Amino acid sequence: SGRSEYNLRSPICCIMGHVDTGKTKLLDCIRGTNVQEGEAGGITQQIGATYFPAENIRKRTKELKADANLKVPGLLVIDTPGHESFASLRSRGSGLCDMAILVVDIMHRLERQTVESLNLLKMRNTNFVIALNKVDRLYGWKACDNASIVKAMKQQSRDVQSEFRMRLTQVVTEFKEQGINTELYYKNRDMGKGTFSIVPASAISGEGIPDLLLLLVQWTAKTMAERLTYSNEVQCTVLEVKVVEGHGTTIDVILVNGVLRDGDQIVVCGMQGPIVTSIRSLLTPDAMKELRVKGSYEHHKEIKAVQGIKITAQGLEHAITGTSLYVVGPDDDMEGIKEAVKGDMRSVMSRVDKCGEGVYVQASTLGSLEALLEFLKTPEVNIPVSGIGIGNVHKKDVTIASVMLEKKKEYATILAFDVTIAHDAKELADKVGVKIYTADIIYHLFNQFKAYIDNLKE
Ligand code: GTP
Ligand code: MG
Ligand code: NA
Repeated sequence: SGRSEYNLRSPICCIMGHVDTGKTKLLDCIRGTNVQEGEAGGITQQIGATYFPAENIRKRTKELKADANLKVPGLLVIDTPGHESFASLRSRGSGLCDMAILVVDIMHRLERQTVESLNLLKMRNTNFVIALNKVDRLYGWKACDNASIVKAMKQQSRDVQSEFRMRLTQVVTEFKEQGINTELYYKNRDMGKGTFSIVPASAISGEGIPDLLLLLVQWTAKTMAERLTYSNEVQCTVLEVKVVEGHGTTIDVILVNGVLRDGDQIVVCGMQGPIVTSIRSLLTPDAMKELRVKGSYEHHKEIKAVQGIKITAQGLEHAITGTSLYVVGPDDDMEGIKEAVKGDMRSVMSRVDKCGEGVYVQASTLGSLEALLEFLKTPEVNIPVSGIGIGNVHKKDVTIASVMLEKKKEYATILAFDVTIAHDAKELADKVGVKIYTADIIYHLFNQFKAYIDNLKE
């Protein structure tokens, strides 16, 4: 996947923005998939990754007659959730990327998490393009499937064009209020010198998608040659820790540089210390398929960066997301690597705070667990947490939660997000009086728990 005559690696692009602006739908439109409709409540609750090989981008941008300019092997796009409780995932995604797409709904303009995302990008000095999405919702829009936006705009009536200009002006003004200069991309002579480009688009009919793809690929290759120069030294980040049926606990990683091989000895950061293990299998979804969606996986003997990869190995149960994965080479000093991992860990553990009294929280992935903890900590919610777990709820989890029966009965509760409850765990919970709430949308858990607390108070 990683070859390029220019020895450049694929750029990593993060897609960010307020909830429901169409981030996942835009990716669906490019992939020809339907991930968004499979999401609980239509809301992204995990971070994902999709690899777009250069040949696909070439096809998609053909009408712009610019194929010769592709200098990178492809593009890896990281999808992030826009819902407010997933700030940690947005931060993780934006920390990994070379460039970003900030999605704005043309009907809603700048919203809370648009501004939050903008601030993350500013903080990290990450360049971005703005996708001004949902242009098909302009009254009277004439669909021009997958056309460049310049061509599509010419097909529109004067009324549509003037409504567009009016809304665009408002968006430009709101960005200005955030200290950001913006301009339609084909009029922007100042790109990279302080004026950010806006690409109007529709994730439903595909107008503007060719423009968006070409802009990303050309821009990164033109301005980031140094940053994108491929290096043999492994640079790899753990994106998610997940239990997958038939594979046990797996980690989803983004390989930014270097090569991973089947059987490599690796070290990752774990809750109880560095985890030393060997890669049992290296799996990727097919090209143009989302890593976070269960599907068929391709097995590899080795994979060259850039790629989103699922790794299976023993002992990954307590791996921590957002940390680095290290490969132990024949000449490497294992103790030195372990020390580096311990340093990473101290910063991560400070995010998961545990106090003596509180509910027990169980989630399907460490990423969603972090999101849930963050949500429970917000002033409006404010539910203390005494224990955490990843994966399905078992008897031992109920036993841990039952400790609260003696201290604070209302906290003898398991908030279980996107996991199943083992039959014997349910039985034990009923017997001893531990409440278990399950949901596949985070704030539904909170609503259930709140109703329970309100009930107790009456
Ligand atoms: P989160 O991941 O939950 O933050 O949302 P998102 O930004 O990924 O948005 P999503 O792709 O889930 O789309 C939200 C809703 O907007 C869905 O109902 C989509 O069908 C709709 N939508 C997305 N893009 C477009 C568009 O270009 N035009 C129209 N008309 N609807 C769109
Ligand atoms: Mg989404
Ligand atoms: Na959504």
